[in-house]
Amino acid sequence: MNKEKTQLEEVKDYWKGKNVPQQWYSEREPYTLQWFNEISYKRYKLYYTYLVEGAEFAYHGNEKVLEVGCGIGTDLIEYAKYGANVSGVDLGPDQVMLTKINFKLRGLPYETIQEGNAESLPFDDESFDLVYSFGVLHHTPDTKKAVNEIYRVLKKDGKAIVMVYARGWKHYIKRCLFQGLFRGRWLANSFDWKKVYNEISEVHGNSPKTDIYSNKQVRELFNNFKYLEVKKKRLGEFFEYPPYNTYVFPSIVRKVCYFLGLELLIGENWLVKAQKFTVKKETKLWEVLFKHY
Ligand SMILES: C[S@@+](CC[C@H](N)C(=O)[O-])C[C@H]1O[C@@H](n2cnc3c(N)ncnc32)[C@H](O)[C@@H]1O
Repeated sequence: MNKEKTQLEEVKDYWKGKNVPQQWYSEREPYTLQWFNEISYKRYKLYYTYLVEGAEFAYHGNEKVLEVGCGIGTDLIEYAKYGANVSGVDLGPDQVMLTKINFKLRGLPYETIQEGNAESLPFDDESFDLVYSFGVLHHTPDTKKAVNEIYRVLKKDGKAIVMVYARGWKHYIKRCLFQGLFRGRWLANSFDWKKVYNEISEVHGNSPKTDIYSNKQVRELFNNFKYLEVKKKRLGEFFEYPPYNTYVFPSIVRKVCYFLGLELLIGENWLVKAQKFTVKKETKLWEVLFKHY
C-alpha cells in the first residue's frame, strides 16, 4: 500500500513543470488562446492525425463525458464544442489550472475539472456515457485498477475510448534495437526492458512508469468489458512529422504505408473502444440477404 502511494506521488511529481503535456507544441505566448489553438492545430493535423475520428469528438453531444488525465484540456474542449457535458480529472494541479484557462478563453461550459486519480475516480458508479483517456493509463502505477474504475463510472450502455502505447515499429526498432541494444541502455538497466522504456519513452525521459503493451496484454486489461475493439494507430515520427525538426519521409512513403495497411501492424498506439454491455444483435449473413435495402 505504501509502495503504491509513493509511486503515485512519483508519477504526480514527474508530470509537472517542463513535463506538463503538449506545451512544447507551441512557441507562442503561453496560456493565450493563440497558444492553445496552435497546440490543438498541431495535435490534430500533425501529431495525432487519427484522433478527430478516433476520439469521436463529434458524436457525443448531450452526453456526459469524462476525460481521465485531461492534460491541458485540448481534447476535452473538442467534446465540449460538440455539446457534450464534460468533466476532466488529472493528477496535476497545473493541468487542472491550464484546462480551466483553456475553457475560459473559449467561453465553453464544463461540469467539473478537478485533481483526481484514475485509480480511484471521484465519481459515483454509472455516471458517464463516455470515458475518454489518452496516453495516461500506461503511466499510472496500477493500470488494471484504473481500467476497472473506468468500468465502474460508466453507465450500463456507456463506452470507453482509451489510447495506450503499443509495441509498434518505434518500440522494436527505436527503443529496443537502437536505444536498448546499440546504445547499451538495456545493459545499463540490468537487462530490465521496463526500466529502458521508463528511461527513454517520454519527451524529457525518465518517467517513473511507462508500459508498452502487446495486443494480448491490452485485451487482458479490458477483459471485464463485453465488447472490445482494439486497433493499432499512428506511424508517428518520420511518417507524419519530422522528429526533432530533422527529416520526414516523402509523403509518397507515408501514403504507401497507409495504403498497405501497415499502420495496423506497426502503429505505435492502441486505440481501444470498449463497451460494458453490447446491445448489438448479431444478424446472420443469409438474414441480411433477405432484407429490403
Ligand atoms: C502524457 S500526459 C497525457 C495528457 C493528455 N491526455 C494528452 O494527451 O496530452 C499524461 C497525463 O496523465 C496524468 N496522469 C498520470 N497518472 C494519472 C492518474 N493516476 N490519474 C490522473 N491523471 C494521471 C498526468 O498528470 C499527465 O497530465
